[in-house]
Amino acid sequence: MTERNILVTAALPYANGHIHLGHLVEYIQTDVWVRFQKLRGRRCIYICADDTHGTAIMIRARQEGRREEQVIADMQAAHVRDFSGFQIQFDNYGSTHSDENRRLCAEIWAALRKAGIIVEREVDRLYDPEVQTFLADRFVKGKCPKCGAPDQYGDSCEKCLAKYDPTDLVEPRSTISGATPVVKRSTQLFVRIEDLHAFLEEWTQTSGALQPEISNYLKGHFLGEPLRDWDVSRPARYFGFEIPDSPGNYWYVWFDAPIGYMASTLEWCQKHGEDFNRWWRDPGTEIHHFIGKDITYFHTLFWPAMLKTAGFSLPKQVHIHGFLTVGGEKMSKARGTFILASTYLKHLDPAFLRYFYATKLTPRVEDLDLNGAEFVGKVNADLVGKVVNLASRTAKFVHGTGLSPAYPADGGLFEYAARQSSAIADAYETGDYNRAMRLVMELADRANPYVESREPWNLKKDAAKGRELQDVCTVALNLFRQLAIYLAPVLPRLAEQTAELLNCPMKRWDEAKNPLVGTKVGHFTHLMKRAELKQFEAMIEESKQPEGGAGATAGAGGAASADGGEALAKEPLLAETCSFDEFSKVDLRIARVVAAEDVKDSDKLLRLTLSLGGDVRKSVFAGIKGVYKPEELVGRLVVCCANLAPRKMRFGVSEGMVLASGTGGKEIYLLLPDSGAVPGQRVH
Ligand code: MSP
Ligand code: ZN
Repeated sequence: MTERNILVTAALPYANGHIHLGHLVEYIQTDVWVRFQKLRGRRCIYICADDTHGTAIMIRARQEGRREEQVIADMQAAHVRDFSGFQIQFDNYGSTHSDENRRLCAEIWAALRKAGIIVEREVDRLYDPEVQTFLADRFVKGKCPKCGAPDQYGDSCEKCLAKYDPTDLVEPRSTISGATPVVKRSTQLFVRIEDLHAFLEEWTQTSGALQPEISNYLKGHFLGEPLRDWDVSRPARYFGFEIPDSPGNYWYVWFDAPIGYMASTLEWCQKHGEDFNRWWRDPGTEIHHFIGKDITYFHTLFWPAMLKTAGFSLPKQVHIHGFLTVGGEKMSKARGTFILASTYLKHLDPAFLRYFYATKLTPRVEDLDLNGAEFVGKVNADLVGKVVNLASRTAKFVHGTGLSPAYPADGGLFEYAARQSSAIADAYETGDYNRAMRLVMELADRANPYVESREPWNLKKDAAKGRELQDVCTVALNLFRQLAIYLAPVLPRLAEQTAELLNCPMKRWDEAKNPLVGTKVGHFTHLMKRAELKQFEAMIEESKQPEGGAGATAGAGGAASADGGEALAKEPLLAETCSFDEFSKVDLRIARVVAAEDVKDSDKLLRLTLSLGGDVRKSVFAGIKGVYKPEELVGRLVVCCANLAPRKMRFGVSEGMVLASGTGGKEIYLLLPDSGAVPGQRVH
C-alpha cells in the first residue's frame, strides 16, 4: 500500500450559534472518513476551527455587552464540548481569530495584489447611524421596491422573488437598531476572479475534484458568463482583520474563513514539529474538504482561485453533502426540530446518530431526513438486534475459559466476511457509507442464524458440551469482532469496548482478516441500550423551548437560522440544472379554482378542483391548509402544471400541481395571476 498523506477539513462552524443536528451531518461524515483512513494506516489529519468574524458576532457581543473575544471563546468551548460528545475527534481545532490566520491572510492577500486581480471601487451602501456600522443586506428590512410587500430583506423579496440592491428598499430600517439607514459612500475592494475563468472552468469540469452534479451546477449557474467581481472588503466597524494596505477596511469573513483551514493546520504543525509546506504545498499530500451544499461556490470558485493565485495546493476533492430535514421538513424551532447537539445528548446515545447518518450518506448531494420512528427502528434492529446481540448472547459463556486455542470450523462465515473487506473499504473511501452499512449488516445477517442454530444457552446446560460451547462462542465473538472493525469508523466507542472485552487492541482494518484465538474474554458489560421513541419525543419536546438553556441565537440572523446572518450571502440552495428541452416539457397553464375543500385528517392539504378552460377539469391536492381558506380561493386564477403525471396520495389521486413560492409551513404564496389571464392559457 503506498503511503498517502491526507489533510481533511470540515467547514468551520460559525461562532454565533450552537452546534445542531444539521451541522453534525457534516462533522460526523468527515470524522468517519478520517477514522477510516487512519484505520487503513494512512497519515491523515482532521483540521477544523471556529469561524469567528463578521457582523453577526459583532452584534451579538454588543447585545450581550461583552467583547467579541469573550463571546467567541465561550462559543468555541461549547462547540468543542458538543463535538467530543459525539466522538468527533479533530487533530486540531483552531479559530479564525488567530495570529496564524492573520499572517496567512496577509500572505495570500499580497499574492492577489501581486497578481493584479484586486480592484477598488466606490459604492453606495446603507449605514446605520445609530450603531455606526454599514449594514449587510440581511440587516436591512423594508418594503419590496417591486411589489411593495412589507418586511423584506435588503437583497431580495420573498414574496415576488425580485432581486434588488438594499439601497432600493422602500422605507428601509436597520434590523439592528431600528434606525433609518442612510446612504454612505465607501471604498470597496474586489477580487476580479474573472481573470481565473479559464482555470476555474478546467478545474471544476475536468479535475475530478467535484461530484458530477456540482460540476454541472457551476457550469450552468456561474461559468456560462463572466464571473462577477468578488466583494472582499467591509468598512469599519467590522469584527475581523483590518486589511494591511487599506486602513479602515476589513476582510469580509468569507475571505479569512477558508484561510482558517490553513491557520489551524499551521497551529497543528507548530505543536507537532511538522512542516507546513508539506501539507499545503506538496503535490504528494491530498487535501479533502467536506462541506454542505449551501457553501458550494465559496469552496469551488473563490477558494481554488485564491489557492491557485497564491501557489498553494488545490483540493484533491471537495465532498459536498445535502441538508438535514427532520420529519421531512426544514428544521424549525417552533416544531422542536431545531435540535441542538447538547439537547440530543441528554436523551440519546451519540452512537445512534452516527450510525443513522452513516446509513443515509451517499456520494450524491442529496438531502437526508431524520425521522423518529425510522431512527429508533433502525438503530434497534441493526445495532442492538444484529450486532451487539452476537456478543451479549455469547461472551458470558467464555468469560472463564477464554477463546478456543484454534479457530473452529464455521462453515466459511469468517472467511466470507474477511473477503468482504475490500468492498466495504471501497464504499467508505468513496463516501458511500450507506452501502458500507448495508454490506456490514449483510454479514450480521449471516452470523446471527449461526448463533441461533447452535444455541449456546442450551449447550451451557450440558457439562459434557463445554468444548462445543467454547467453539460456538469463539466463532460468534470473532464474527462480532469483524463487524466491530468494519464499523469502527462509525462506532469508535463500540470498537474500544470490543477491544477491551476480547483483550486485543483494535487498531487496523486488516485485523478483520485473522481470527482471534486463545485470548481471555473480559467481563461482559452492556454495550448499547435500546433506543426508545419516547426519548426521541422528549428531545423534540425540549427543543420546542426557544431559549432551550443552551442559548438559541437571538436577533440578527432570524429565528430559524443559526448561521452568520451576513453569510446569508450564501447562494440559494443548489438545484440540478435541467435542459431547455426538459423544461419545455412542463406544460404550465392558467386555471380557475372552481371548488376548494379541506381534506379531513390532513393538517396540510386542500383539495382544489381546477378548470382549465372548456370542460377540462383537474383535481389537485395542495399543501396550503391554514395558509389559504378554501372559500377565498374559489373563483381565483392559479398557475397549474397540467401535464404532471397523476400521483396517488393517501387521500386520492392528484392530477396536477399548483405553483407557489415561499419556504414552506405558513410561508407559502400561491402564484395568483392577475386579470387578463384566461383559464387554459399557456404560461411561458
Ligand atoms: N462558517 C461557514 C463555513 C466556513 S468554511 C471556511 C458556515 N458555517 S455554518 O455553521 O453555517 O455551517 C457549517 C457547516 O454545516 C456547513 O458546511 C453547512 O453546510 C453545514 N450545515 C449547516 N446546517 C446544515 C443542515 N441542516 N444540514 C446539513 N448540513 C448543514 O457555513
Ligand atoms: Zn416583492
